[in-house]
Amino acid sequence: MNKILRELEKRREQARLGGGQKRIQAQHDKGKLTARERIELLLDNDSFEELDMFVKHRCVDFGMEETQISGDGVVTGWGTINGRQVYVYSQDFTVFGGSLSETHAQKICKVMDMAMRNGAPIIGLNDSGGARIQEGVASLAGYADVFQKNVLASGVVPQISVIMGPCAGGAVYSPAMTDFIFMIKDSSYMFVTGPDVVKTVTNEIISAEELGGAKTHTTKSSVADGAFENDVEALGQIRRLFDFLPLSNREKPPQRPFYDDTSRIEASLDTLVPENPNQPYDIKELILKLSDEGDFFEIQKEFAANIVTGFIRLEGRTIGVVANQPLVLAGVLDIDSSRKAARFVRFCDAFEIPILTLVDVPGFLPGTSQEYGGVIKHGAKLLFAYGEATVPKVTLITRKAYGGAYDVMASKHLRGDFNYAWPTAEIAVMGAKGAVEILYRQELGDKKKIEQRTKEYEKRFANPFVAAEKGFIDEVIAPSSTRKRICRAFAALQGKKLTNPWKKHDNIPL
Ligand code: HXC
Repeated sequence: MNKILRELEKRREQARLGGGQKRIQAQHDKGKLTARERIELLLDNDSFEELDMFVKHRCVDFGMEETQISGDGVVTGWGTINGRQVYVYSQDFTVFGGSLSETHAQKICKVMDMAMRNGAPIIGLNDSGGARIQEGVASLAGYADVFQKNVLASGVVPQISVIMGPCAGGAVYSPAMTDFIFMIKDSSYMFVTGPDVVKTVTNEIISAEELGGAKTHTTKSSVADGAFENDVEALGQIRRLFDFLPLSNREKPPQRPFYDDTSRIEASLDTLVPENPNQPYDIKELILKLSDEGDFFEIQKEFAANIVTGFIRLEGRTIGVVANQPLVLAGVLDIDSSRKAARFVRFCDAFEIPILTLVDVPGFLPGTSQEYGGVIKHGAKLLFAYGEATVPKVTLITRKAYGGAYDVMASKHLRGDFNYAWPTAEIAVMGAKGAVEILYRQELGDKKKIEQRTKEYEKRFANPFVAAEKGFIDEVIAPSSTRKRICRAFAALQGKKLTNPWKKHDNIPL
């Protein structure tokens, strides 16, 4: 018996070494952790149950039969994060550059199937050179199998991808179909084709960092939802995000103990909105003052900062927040902010996370660049996402809610459950200046008259009461009591049941 156990331990030791000490050292020299070290940091101590440790590839081309490494470049299994189950795969760059073979793909598919069956999220730690070149079509087939599982798992269990090394080709398309992608600054890259291919095809000379580094994908392409300084920070932050999410679409988000006063009065909010309607203020101040213990996990912080998206907790329960940010482009809606918020709203709705919408929006951004870029279709994404969402929706208008943007931002008309406004709210088709210039064009030469008309318009519309008279605003609330009012609103909505008409699926304007 002892001999057999020794043999088992020997095989395990061998598998744990992956591509060998030299390659592990090379990984460390680049400031990267190994696949197993990453799993250890991601999961609770001693909670990891590894599967398929002894799987080997079956390729016999290019002398591959000579190089068989147990595990075949990916560590898979399940464990817990703060006691809640999660499935994991972690690609091992020390084994054929983490490239995906037929068997490597089968290992990933197996844990994805288990995650879906057992109702737990899946986290992929990606560090891969893409399809294993020596395996040809078998590795392409493996990728397609993973892609298909990603599609089927979408909306069933949360899927999180962390890009922790160079990821090329197929290695970027699986993450692209998951709910969230995070990258590591200076050590992770994502591209369909690398700098060498780019140079050959388009004559562009570009570095890997510029083409597909964390900065590119968090600020320009919006492929990534966030970036962290190093592996350790990233894995800690993924644990934090995980705590906000439900395990699957069959469960409610977790309720955590909270140590904050639900009725906390924030006197400073009474003066958050400046007297001058054109002066900006930071909507994140409101988000932090509303949330339990000021805890806010922001998604896509660096992209389309004119809208803020992320998770908070109210009375220990997860809430998705969407907020116009007056500090950036006056909080206007445009192509990028509409796409960003629409995707976030859809994630929340898919996983029964209630949505809080904070509105201060002067309208949609005008101009040819927006119209040519298809702002009609992109803006419609957000409108569509809010309109189809059946989760509890609470909306607060802090200042401007002009034009179509008023309708879009979780208005009463899109089945908002509680629509509140601060006394500083202005709800109108457009701002006073623009409105007067259209309505009284013939009086434009008379400055005094125009001033008077502007004042009249402001008096009529620059307040929340016209909308409140019509019941489009349920109540005008004091800013200082916002946390209490919003906590109570979400508490009252816990039993909400709303279903859309049966359909195979909708046809959101993509
Ligand atoms: C087999 C691979 C590999 C691959 C890397 N390796 N990529 N082996 N298949 N796809 C091996 C290398 O041969 C090397 O082995 C080891 O991994 C480390 O690679 P290096 O090149 O030394 O590392 P580095 O300099 O850090 O560069 C990493 C890299 C580069 C940027 C990922 O290796 C690279 O460009 N690889 C090819 C990327 C690619 O074109 N993949 C196919 C995409 S097509 P040794 O033994 O020397 O240590 C695709 C199709 C799917 O994925 C499409 C679906 C839509």
